[in-house]
Amino acid sequence: MKLCIIGAGHVGLVTGACFAEVGHHVICIDNDQRKIDMLAAGKIPLYEPQLEELLSRNIAAKRLFFSNSVKAGVDASEVIFLAVPTPLRADGTVDLSCIEQVVREIAPALGAYRIIVDKSTVPVKTGEKMAEIIQIIRRHNAASTLFDIVSNPEFLREGSAVRDTLHPDRIVIGSSSQRAIALMRKIYEPFSAPLLITDVNSAELIKHAANSFLALKISYINMVARICEANKADVKKVADGIGLDKRIGRGFLDAGIGYGGSCFPKDVATFIAICQQQLGRPFGLLREVQKINDTQLEYFISKIRGALQVLEGRKIAVWGLTFKPDTDDIRNSVAVALVNLLISEGVIVQVYDPKGMEKSRRLWAKTAARFASSPLEAVQGAEALVIATEWKEFTSVDLREVKARMQAWFIFDGRNLLNPSVARQFGFSYYSIGRF
Ligand code: UGA
Repeated sequence: MKLCIIGAGHVGLVTGACFAEVGHHVICIDNDQRKIDMLAAGKIPLYEPQLEELLSRNIAAKRLFFSNSVKAGVDASEVIFLAVPTPLRADGTVDLSCIEQVVREIAPALGAYRIIVDKSTVPVKTGEKMAEIIQIIRRHNAASTLFDIVSNPEFLREGSAVRDTLHPDRIVIGSSSQRAIALMRKIYEPFSAPLLITDVNSAELIKHAANSFLALKISYINMVARICEANKADVKKVADGIGLDKRIGRGFLDAGIGYGGSCFPKDVATFIAICQQQLGRPFGLLREVQKINDTQLEYFISKIRGALQVLEGRKIAVWGLTFKPDTDDIRNSVAVALVNLLISEGVIVQVYDPKGMEKSRRLWAKTAARFASSPLEAVQGAEALVIATEWKEFTSVDLREVKARMQAWFIFDGRNLLNPSVARQFGFSYYSIGRF
């Protein structure tokens, strides 16, 4: 089928490349010409496993194209996907100006019937607003014969986005039009995942409800970790024990220094704001989720303070800067917040991240922070090592070598990555989250 994706960011690019991979003809549109040129040359402006090879393969097969013209995309495609940013405003509501702008560009370009599919994370009832904008611009009610709106939320995770898109748990299609649903079924035919057909509002709500629930699981286990710690219990074992219950599941029960990134913090805040606006009361449960997450870093730093006594002037290595492994994304990263806090307390930080160094450099260019080119270089002369992101490569670093390079032997493992007894066997004072 002929598809167009407007917005060549993380979601748009991965979605476009995966649709091309399963045989569709895809045009990715972005208003950033530099990005378009870069993509057309097969280069990607972000790190995402498998994405570059997928792009090159599908560009070469002439199934994947790039353009800066919305009109060209609308003319050439039966289905138009929107994957544009929907950032958070200070009051917790979502800034929908990019969606509105794109819809305003699509409306006059509509000739024959088109389906406009929203993939961006939006508050419930955004689909209705999109339809209203198009109808106003076209100034007649026959508009419904020209287009249908579909909500098709994405559930991909950064770092495993290609795999998540090609092998999703489920595909949600929200629409009131049988014609649109039939075409959407056809697009997703090559994907072997359960299809859930809903109305537009329900599909939009599924996205916020799912992300908020995952964030809730993380805050839940982080609080359980604090209780474990007070009782010399092991949060990993507790998570295994409750996770084996199929009704609960083990996923997203890894305790740590809190969730970050561009989705969970934003989506929890939005869901709280939606509840406040529509029901006149806050979503108290989610406020508590936020509160636990907001205090988790301080809870972790207090362990460092407690063990080292004085932070000022100390040399501390930090492994991990990205908000999660297998990405170069440092937006809303708790690891970055941690480094900022350490710097503000006068610590000389020596940082290393497998993919996040480039984007981090400018953050601390004017500080005494040192940028290492390997985990071992980062611990050179350090008095403590802090693990802030759960990169797998950190588990294979030789702890004997780490110890030989350090001046004092403290490890603060904010992601429960290392085995406590192994770290202690090497002579480290080892601190983690909810384990002894
Ligand atoms: C999240 C959702 O998982 C995706 O399903 C969704 O499509 C995406 O948001 C989105 O809305 O676009 P993402 O933000 O890429 O994906 O990353 P996650 O893997 O969900 O991790 C988010 C944060 O939670 C990270 O900081 C991670 O370290 C933390 N986390 C995750 C934990 O602290 N514990 C866990 O057990 C799992």
